[in-house]
Amino acid sequence: MSYVMETYSRLPIRLVRGKGCRVWDDEGNEYLDMISGIAVCNLGHAHPAVVRALRDQAGELFHCSNLYRIPQQELLARMLAENAFDSRAFFCNSGAEANEAAIKLARRFCNSSGKRGSHIITFEGSFHGRTLATVAATGQGKFRKGFDPIPSGFSTVPYGDIDALEAAIDERVGAVMLEAIQGEGGIRIPPAGFLQRVRQLCDEKGLLMILDEVQTGMGRTGKLFGYMHEEVVPDIMTMAKALGNGFPVGAMIAKPHVAEAFTPGSHASTFGGNPLAMASSIATLNVMIEERIPEKSCEQGRCFVDRLGRLKASHPAITAIRGRGLMIGVEFDADIATLNAEGLKKGILLNIIQGRILRLAPPLVITTEEIDEAIEKIHAVLTEKGL
Ligand SMILES: Cc1ncc(COP(=O)(O)O)c(C=O)c1O
Repeated sequence: MSYVMETYSRLPIRLVRGKGCRVWDDEGNEYLDMISGIAVCNLGHAHPAVVRALRDQAGELFHCSNLYRIPQQELLARMLAENAFDSRAFFCNSGAEANEAAIKLARRFCNSSGKRGSHIITFEGSFHGRTLATVAATGQGKFRKGFDPIPSGFSTVPYGDIDALEAAIDERVGAVMLEAIQGEGGIRIPPAGFLQRVRQLCDEKGLLMILDEVQTGMGRTGKLFGYMHEEVVPDIMTMAKALGNGFPVGAMIAKPHVAEAFTPGSHASTFGGNPLAMASSIATLNVMIEERIPEKSCEQGRCFVDRLGRLKASHPAITAIRGRGLMIGVEFDADIATLNAEGLKKGILLNIIQGRILRLAPPLVITTEEIDEAIEKIHAVLTEKGL
């Protein structure tokens, strides 16, 4: 009997320790981690720089609220402006909250401009979070089931389809919201140039482009942020997951003229951007930049996809392998929902999305030897399952 609500179908192991790409359970069993707490621990578990930053900050000040200036917020906001695009930042605690803030900012901007409506177009297959507004924005009906009334003001078009997007834009629409690569939707990479064309369309029609980089951000795709593959700049961007390498933190950044739509009192969060969250994020971003982690993600991603391509020859159930950096999807023509349980027996943490896609999102510090080890274990799992 558990006193925890049953919102997850959990695997039976209890993880208690991690180091780099490896984690251990309470019985001492070791696992190679191919999911990083769902694209969160991008620098690996217990990264010394992040541990040190958190320990140091914990001895100084955990929390003080946003009633006061928080120097670490000022620094992280500047680092994001310098390493992403000229922006102002709002800090919160999760991806859903960052997207909720983005939706509120976009609506306030549109409503105050008086030129357009504040309706937001999102994409089929997208995932933006579990709050009511973010499930409304999410392009997968299953996440809305049973939660009526759902907030209005959103509609979806097929991902990657620029003509459908253009056709859906009327005077009610004020913004377009999308992921650089759809993560939960099945590691769906849009056609080349798609982000650029969305940007152009937004410019032509006077719409805001909101980019959800919660999963694709922080080096996951081989660039610091996913949009950097196409040299476009969104108006509003959200991040969370890997920002604090596992410490709960989210951020919504916006171009300065858009950010002005928020004034004191328009939006807030008690914990958002507290000194502990900021210390872990600053340390994480510093390591990302100094150790050129996005480049490593790009190189190791190529290596992983190459090895997976060879593996495919002995496993005909694999129908497609796609990825950018270390955000990789291996699609099967069979239901593979039980692969993760089989993975535990072989000492590897695997993650399945949409029932038939194996999502590989290991820490970005994974070595070539660890990729080889992962391939061996995946081969053993697939062989065991007759795939
Ligand atoms: C693209 C994207 N946006 C938003 C979220 C929600 O983030 P969180 O679970 O931190 O609220 C996720 C989580 O998987 C995500 O992948």
